[in-house]
Amino acid sequence: MKNSLKPLRIALTKGRLEKDTVALFEKIGYDCTAVRDKGRKLILPVGDSIEVVLAKAPDVITYVENGVCDLGVVGKDTIIENGSCFYEILDLGFGRCKFAVAGKKGVDCLAGFSTKTIATKYPNVTRRYFESKGMDVRVIKIEGSVELAPLLGLADAIVDIVETGTTLKENGLEVKEDVCPISARLICNTASLKLRKAEIEELAQKMEDAIND
Ligand code: PRP
Repeated sequence: MKNSLKPLRIALTKGRLEKDTVALFEKIGYDCTAVRDKGRKLILPVGDSIEVVLAKAPDVITYVENGVCDLGVVGKDTIIENGSCFYEILDLGFGRCKFAVAGKKGVDCLAGFSTKTIATKYPNVTRRYFESKGMDVRVIKIEGSVELAPLLGLADAIVDIVETGTTLKENGLEVKEDVCPISARLICNTASLKLRKAEIEELAQKMEDAIND
């Protein structure tokens, strides 16, 4: 169904999820030339019924929660860490990786009764995970390259995203425990799903069909 008012606005997580989403839109048949040739532009048309907004992952959630974007594409990692005042309507199947506890290879880094220090970009995920194990830990927030923390002696272990495992391997680290699997999700503003239900459901259906094709 063609939108009679304004385009559906979709916030995409910049980077790999953006590329995978554009590939999915093209598979459906949308013209993504403007996104592919975007230069430094951040709001771009896709076909004549969608407008794409390029943002960092936590900002995708902020824009969707506040209703300035109808939909968003964001990793489950960001959703678990930042909470969810929106509907999660589709597992997009790409961006697959996992949250894991990792530490120095061959070292039993969680052994013993002393309080362990865990470095992570995801303090909420980390606290919840260790709480569920009944373990009291000290959590230190790191903004990136979390693998440095155990190597520098700042932390006993890390909780981080593992995709191929290459970063851990090349830095003498290994997965100690899997926390949970992650993939990209299509999220939707709660009011948008009521006000633009038909358009959103049609798009979500097309995306699901293209994923399963
Ligand atoms: C993520 C994650 C790991 C790496 C895992 O980092 O934090 O460092 O990817 O990928 P791999 O298992 O395929 O090696 P990202 O590239 O997002 O950068 P960051 O560490 O600065 O967040």
